[in-house]
Amino acid sequence: MSTTTEAQTTGIDRMADPNWWRQASVYQIYPRSFADSNGDGLGDIQGITAKVPYLKTLGIDAVWLSPFYPSALADGGYDVDDYRNVDPKLGTLADFDEMAEALHRAGIKLIADIVPNHSSDRHEWFKEALASPKGSPARDRYIFRDGLGENGELPPSDWDSVFGGPAWERITEPDGTPGQWYMHIFAKEQPDFNWDNQEVRDDFLKTLRFWSDRGVDGFRIDVAHALTKNLEGTLPTKADLEAKALGTDGFVDGSHPYWDRDEVHEIYVEWRKVFNEYTPPRTAVAEAWVHADRRARYASPEGLGQAFNFDLLQADFDASQFRKIITKNLVEAAASGASSTWVFSNHDVVRHATRYGLPATEVAVEGEIMAGQAGKKWLLAGGRKEDVDVELGLRRARAASLLMFALPGSAYLYQGEELGLQEVGSEIPDSERQDPAFFRNKGVDIGRDGCRVPLPWTADGTSFGFGDGGSHLPQPAWFSRYAVQEQDGAEGSTLELYRTALRLRTDLQSGEELEWIPNSNPEVLHFARPNGWQSVTNFGTEPVDLPEGTVVVSSSGLQDGKLPGATTAWLFG
Ligand code: BGC
Repeated sequence: MSTTTEAQTTGIDRMADPNWWRQASVYQIYPRSFADSNGDGLGDIQGITAKVPYLKTLGIDAVWLSPFYPSALADGGYDVDDYRNVDPKLGTLADFDEMAEALHRAGIKLIADIVPNHSSDRHEWFKEALASPKGSPARDRYIFRDGLGENGELPPSDWDSVFGGPAWERITEPDGTPGQWYMHIFAKEQPDFNWDNQEVRDDFLKTLRFWSDRGVDGFRIDVAHALTKNLEGTLPTKADLEAKALGTDGFVDGSHPYWDRDEVHEIYVEWRKVFNEYTPPRTAVAEAWVHADRRARYASPEGLGQAFNFDLLQADFDASQFRKIITKNLVEAAASGASSTWVFSNHDVVRHATRYGLPATEVAVEGEIMAGQAGKKWLLAGGRKEDVDVELGLRRARAASLLMFALPGSAYLYQGEELGLQEVGSEIPDSERQDPAFFRNKGVDIGRDGCRVPLPWTADGTSFGFGDGGSHLPQPAWFSRYAVQEQDGAEGSTLELYRTALRLRTDLQSGEELEWIPNSNPEVLHFARPNGWQSVTNFGTEPVDLPEGTVVVSSSGLQDGKLPGATTAWLFG
């Protein structure tokens, strides 16, 4: 198992430390919903630059920027028109450079989201493919197939897309006749690239260098497990594939036609060579919803180096589930040479302050809606507001986050969780929803818009200080009480808890080991790091005795010197 990074012990400039990512706190910004500098209702790059002082006082090590590239927003920017540019709605390349510089001056690294599985249907290559004949080099950059049936009127297979509806779309040929079909694992506006095509491979290397040269320190790789495909011969049916899936974990032998095939790692070996051309080497983290036994491959030092594990995100607020997951992931990370990753919230799932306030069964049932992707649950449904125990949800979320910040490995945070922000549920009218998951599921799944509503910066005023104009997704009136302005300097606020915890986490960070300390109460999890930093969480409802030591921070107030239910405390000494 790797030990303390040099920078942590000797105070070497963290920005130059090649291991900066191993125990970093990474804050995800969903750019269109963070801060709007020009009042057009859409967050932008200059808005982020203006908030660098806020990010600095939060105490994070890096910002991960969800896609900011030109896009028609068919999937919130994960439909990219041009990989080496900034969406004019968000700013310019010069704005990007200024933002990168401001972040770096504040000691904050920058991670860009790379979307290699698919482009948007407005990408110049896709337009060229549509205008070119069947069998042409332009079509070969994507996945085009003839249809089945007498006149090719049926899709090449009966597969569903992740967002619902078919995974194939028929095109009209340049001569106006109904033509071939192209594959799209996600929305129809997101045609899948053909990764057997050398031009596609070369172009992504160019993109990685383009952003690395502009000062990007690392990359988050979108659906990293989908790039390579085997679509030779007769394609298996949906039923064939389902029969072979092991429980909800997908294929464990790499034989699925498009998820998690072994060849995908050859691509990342090439990418690693590019990352290592830079000093310090650029980092990468894979978003790969794969069988747990196959996750380590994505985190290998010869490949991407780190991979998300979404295990805690999918767990109940439950001591034994947490303990099992933490132990397993630390062992796995150590075996692959990576550090572990932890995440409770992101732009695809219901915010954890809400999830933990939902009746457990509801989360599970609604989560099934996204079971398409490698059989994983994306917990997409948002939950109906009236079913949420807001107070309990927030209390548990604060306890879970404080526990996470004490774990060895990288902690990934999602904008707004530092405010204890709740998911917006049925307050978003159907007419204002944007998520393709909502439209492609004909309203069964309310989609991911509820965690993407622009942040409240002030308690009142236009769009709660998000900008001088409106907000591209409606903010409910209750956003007011979560505003940064309300929480800034307020004792006990979630924002101040995060600031304290993140500052302490940086100061206390030590080796990547964790020791479980036995506790007779099965609802209590207690662990220590090598330097004596301890974290204890009470997952139950009754107050419990605290172990010996000085409490340095707790997620809720202590009760007569005891640790109340749904609370975490850190101790020292
Ligand atoms: C992203 C989603 C996106 C999908 C398609 C996911 O992994 O996190 O937001 O819809 O990829 O790009």
